[in-house]
Amino acid sequence: MLKIVETSVRDGHQSLFATRMTTQEVVSLCQIYDKVGFHAIEVWGGATFDACLRFLNEDPWDRLRLVRQVCKNTKLQMLFRGQNILGYRHYSDDVVDMFCKKSIENGIDIIRVFDALNDIRNLRQAVESTKKYGGECQIALSYTTSPVHTIDYYVELAKDVEKLGADSLCIKDMAGVLLPEDAKKLVTALKSEIKIPLELHSHCTAGVCEMTYMAAIEAGVDIVDTSMSPLSNGTAQPSTQALINALKGSKYDPKLNMDAIHEAEPLVTDIVDKYVKNGLLNTKSFEINPNILKYQVPGGMLSNMIKQLSDQDALDKYEDVLKEIPKVRKDLGYPPLVTPMSQMVGTQAVLNILNNERYKICTKEVKDYLHGKYGKAPSSINEELRKKIIGDDEVINCRPADLLEPEFEKLKMDYKDIARSDEDVLSLALFESVAADFLKKKYNAEEVETDEFEMFV
Ligand code: CO
Repeated sequence: MLKIVETSVRDGHQSLFATRMTTQEVVSLCQIYDKVGFHAIEVWGGATFDACLRFLNEDPWDRLRLVRQVCKNTKLQMLFRGQNILGYRHYSDDVVDMFCKKSIENGIDIIRVFDALNDIRNLRQAVESTKKYGGECQIALSYTTSPVHTIDYYVELAKDVEKLGADSLCIKDMAGVLLPEDAKKLVTALKSEIKIPLELHSHCTAGVCEMTYMAAIEAGVDIVDTSMSPLSNGTAQPSTQALINALKGSKYDPKLNMDAIHEAEPLVTDIVDKYVKNGLLNTKSFEINPNILKYQVPGGMLSNMIKQLSDQDALDKYEDVLKEIPKVRKDLGYPPLVTPMSQMVGTQAVLNILNNERYKICTKEVKDYLHGKYGKAPSSINEELRKKIIGDDEVINCRPADLLEPEFEKLKMDYKDIARSDEDVLSLALFESVAADFLKKKYNAEEVETDEFEMFV
C-alpha cells in the first residue's frame, strides 16, 4: 500500500502562487485533510515562514499551532534547509537546535531536512536535534542531473544518510526533471541498498511527473508527495485525486477517505479562483514546459522569475534568462537548483542578461558561495571566474557552521525589546527587519486592544 503526503498547503501554493495562502485558508483545508488518512500533511517551512511575516502580516508560529489544533490524527511535516534553517545564511548549531526544538514543541512531527549542495555535513545538526526532541527526521537529497549526479552518487549519499540516523529518505526533485526510466533505476538501486522508507517528491513542470511517480511506485517507493486538485500540476505536485484514482484496484491503492477529499475540493477551487483573479496565480504556471528538462528550473523559482522579469518590464528576456541558467550552474560546479542555490543562480542569470555582461554585477550570496561558505560544490567551480570575482581571498574547506560561535543567547539579548518568546527570537534571527516590523505591529496592536478593553470595564 502506497503512502501519500499532501503538499497543497506548503509546496502547492509555494510553487503556484508565491506562497500567499493565508493561515485561515491553510487551517480550513487542514481541518478536512485530517480526515483523509494521509501519511502526513506538509504544512510548514520552506517559504511559508518568510511569506507569513513579509506579505501576510501573520505569525508563522501561530499558523503552526492553529494547524496542530485541527489536525488530531495526521502527522505534520515541515521542510527545513539544514544549516540555513528557513533563511538564506548559515546559522550556528545552537540556533538550528532551538529551531528544531520549537518546531516540534509547536506541533511538527516530521522534519524534512535537505542541503542544497547535498553536503552531508550541513545536515548533521538538524538530524541530531530533531531526534533529540522526539521528532521524526527525514533527509531529502536534492535531485538534479549533471555529469556528477549519477545513480552511484545518490546511492553513496543515501548510505551516508542512513548512517547519520535519518528515519527516512526522500528524493527531492524540485525541478521535476526526474524521468520515469531514471526513477525506476534510482528507486531500485536505493531500495536494494538502504532499509529506511523511501519517498519521492517531484513537480509536474515538465509534464512527466505522473509517469515518473508510476515508475517509482512500481519500483517500490514507499511514499509519494501529491497536491489536492485544482491546486496541483503545473509547477506543483501531481494531483492527489488523480493518483488515488489511478491506483484504484491495484496493490498500491492508498485506501484514503474519498468523502473527505470531496469535501475539501470546493474549498481548494475557491482558493485557486481567488488567486487567479487577484493576479498572484499566473495561469502560465499550469502549462507544461518541456524545456525545463534542459534548463532544470524548479517551479517556485520559475514563478518568482516570471514575477521578477515582469516587474522589470523584461518578460521578453524570459527565454534568454532560461538559457543563461545552465551556464551559470556549470560555472558554479553544478549546484542543484533548490533554495538558496535556485535564487542565487536565478538572480545571477537575470543580472547577467539584463546587464548585457556576464558577472558584471554579482550578488553577495554568489561571493559567499565562491568563498566556500555554503559548503562543498558537487563539482569543480570555474576557477577563472572565482578569481575574477573574489580575487585571492581565502576559500574555506571545513563545515561552514564550524566557524560560527553559538549565537542564540546573543540574539535573545539583542532582541529583548521586541521578542516576547524564543519563537520570536527565532523569527528575528531568520528575517531580522521583516520580523521586527511584524512583531512591533503585532504587539502594539495587542496593547491597543487591551487598552480599549479596559476602557469599557
Ligand atoms: Co517541491
